[in-house]
Amino acid sequence: MIDQSPLLETIVRGFDEAAIDEAAKLLLAGQPVAIPTETVYGLAARADQGEAVARIYAAKGRPAFNPLIIHVRNMQQAQSIAVFDQTARELALRFWPGALTLVLPIKTGAPIASLATAGLQTVALRMPAHRAMQAVLDATGVPLAAPSANLSGTISPTKAEHVLHTLGGRIPLIVDDGSTSLGLESTIVATSESGVILLRPGPISPDQWQDLAVTIQANPDAAAISAPGQLESHYAPSKPVRLNAAQAHQSEWFIGFGEIGGDANLSPAGDLTEAAAQLFDLLHRADAQNRATIAVAPVPEIGLGVAINDRLRRAAAPRTNG
Ligand code: TXA
Ligand code: MG
Repeated sequence: MIDQSPLLETIVRGFDEAAIDEAAKLLLAGQPVAIPTETVYGLAARADQGEAVARIYAAKGRPAFNPLIIHVRNMQQAQSIAVFDQTARELALRFWPGALTLVLPIKTGAPIASLATAGLQTVALRMPAHRAMQAVLDATGVPLAAPSANLSGTISPTKAEHVLHTLGGRIPLIVDDGSTSLGLESTIVATSESGVILLRPGPISPDQWQDLAVTIQANPDAAAISAPGQLESHYAPSKPVRLNAAQAHQSEWFIGFGEIGGDANLSPAGDLTEAAAQLFDLLHRADAQNRATIAVAPVPEIGLGVAINDRLRRAAAPRTNG
């Protein structure tokens, strides 16, 4: 784990013009600020300055080889950073602003610190749909690197209080705009001559771009694609997680789904969109309970359920990165 920075006072401010001004000032001065997006809260820093990006890694305690997603406000900014082929352009046109991240060849001279891409020749780009992230992108005028705003290896934050829980004392400001609507990190795809490669399942599913892609490969060779953030154990509560539980053992706090009730339920109606939005919040709640283990009811492997199960398997995987 990377060095702790000296303890700061972390201020939480509700979304308004003054909060965005303050966030923009800090960002332009090279400080990291937690800003909500429609997926999860992001820990943003200006992507064009290595020192600013380094403060993200330091605050998160993130292994420095993990490349970050760069957030942009418009197509013009995106095209100053990456090379778009026809498929990439069509995907951007259809899903931006939104929860799709495109991994594309980086442009020579792009205003992106190499630390943000971990030195790769590709860059992960996203145009977010959330008013707070859009407002800080407008106010700063620079691309912003933003991984999820949590300590490395812990659960992604869908509320300001989740951010405060692991990054309190490590960052100067959190802009609070309530719960994020989607609750899962963006879908990540890379485009290549042979089609679209799914690197991370998320809110946007491959059947939504079926008509565009030549082939859809489900990350055929994770190592070769080098999405190092896809470590086996990544979205990890501090307690062991047991999946596909039909019922709970005595020492377990049980996260239900649909008709399987539990101590709390991802979606009593069995609605996968609601379950995705609840997922990290319930994992946070489960982790805070006075029980040894977390059990989770089965969630069907269809639609958004694919992304939900991906996150759940990571939460349950043997811990590899502390
Ligand atoms: O919804 C989201 O995407 C959130 C919000 C804040 O936008 N951000 C997010 O970022 O989840 P992060 O840093 O937690 O996840 C970045 C993922 C990692 O798995 C990383 O390895 C992958 O993107 N990635 C970044 N650049 C890449 C590249 N050039 N090639 C392949 N994978 C890349
Ligand atoms: Mg993350």
